[in-house]
Amino acid sequence: MTPHPFHDLAAFTRENEPMAHHTSFRVGGPVRYFVEPREWDALPLVFERGVAAGLPIRILGRGSNILVTDEPHPWLVISTQHLGDLRHRGTCIEAGAGLYLPRLVAAAEAWGLGGLEPLAGIPGSVGGAVAMNAGGRYGRVSDRLIGAMVVPPGGTPRWMDAPNLGFDYRHSIVPHTGLFVLSATFQLDKTPRGYLQERRLSILAEKHASQPMDAASAGCVFKNPPGQSAGRLIDQAGLKGTRVGGACVSHKHANFIVNDGPNTTATDVLQLIQIVAARVRAVFGVSLELEIDVWSTDQERSTAHA
Ligand code: EPU
Repeated sequence: MTPHPFHDLAAFTRENEPMAHHTSFRVGGPVRYFVEPREWDALPLVFERGVAAGLPIRILGRGSNILVTDEPHPWLVISTQHLGDLRHRGTCIEAGAGLYLPRLVAAAEAWGLGGLEPLAGIPGSVGGAVAMNAGGRYGRVSDRLIGAMVVPPGGTPRWMDAPNLGFDYRHSIVPHTGLFVLSATFQLDKTPRGYLQERRLSILAEKHASQPMDAASAGCVFKNPPGQSAGRLIDQAGLKGTRVGGACVSHKHANFIVNDGPNTTATDVLQLIQIVAARVRAVFGVSLELEIDVWSTDQERSTAHA
């Protein structure tokens, strides 16, 4: 029997790993290989083996903005979880892709560097946050990013200045060009720590008051249509509490779907998404666009054959 492509990297490789263990929605089927490098040096090798084996590759940050479908997936998923180093020089901070975003916000505060506190309470990894230009009412990742190291699978890492990353509302070119973020550099301002702490705590309190922060979810499901709030539209369409299996439209914020059942599936969540989108279209004539990323093998096949 031929050994699998990562047989000598057993310490950080798992086979048939359920993605439900790695997503904040706590749903998602198994992936062929799940590789979690502990050091940067291992990454080129993992990419190289994956490309040589013809495996479709997906990079996982903290899994906080994705819905992975239930069927078994043929992918190599590379988790950046342990690739989260952090450096600062002057008023610049460089963060590894796997760093937990709240840790970046905390480090900037501890160093008395302002500009990232609007990102308080946003879960996820730095890499994922750059890729989707994560943000909230008070700011977005792109506001302070000066550039990122990116790499195509199996290719050579290169620096890209922020203006070339095509940032827009919840958008960058990163996921659409097959690039992966390795690290991100932010330009900040010297700011009193007390002020930064106060801002962070006030933003967190606001979020706790209006969002189901402790529930299993992937944050807001839909993007806000221009000039409108998806949450308000879903709420006014009377959809709070609508349920399919263990997936339920949050009573606290209607743009969140929470997983509150023991056997919830991604199919439950997808069905609920369809119900919500169809109802909002019928009531308001507005087509909602997904904010979360759906990872699906079936979708890939249909795209490949389209
Ligand atoms: N609203 C309702 N019912 C609801 C939810 C909201 O009537 O169930 C109303 C609110 O009362 C408010 C308006 O809709 O008047 C806007 O709501 P909110 O202030 O909660 O902001 P949002 O536009 O729904 C956005 C981001 C959030 C971010 C918050 C706060 C999007 C899709 N959502 O929500 O981001 O946390 O602002 O900064 O852009 C995420 O990306 O996952 C996310 C949660």
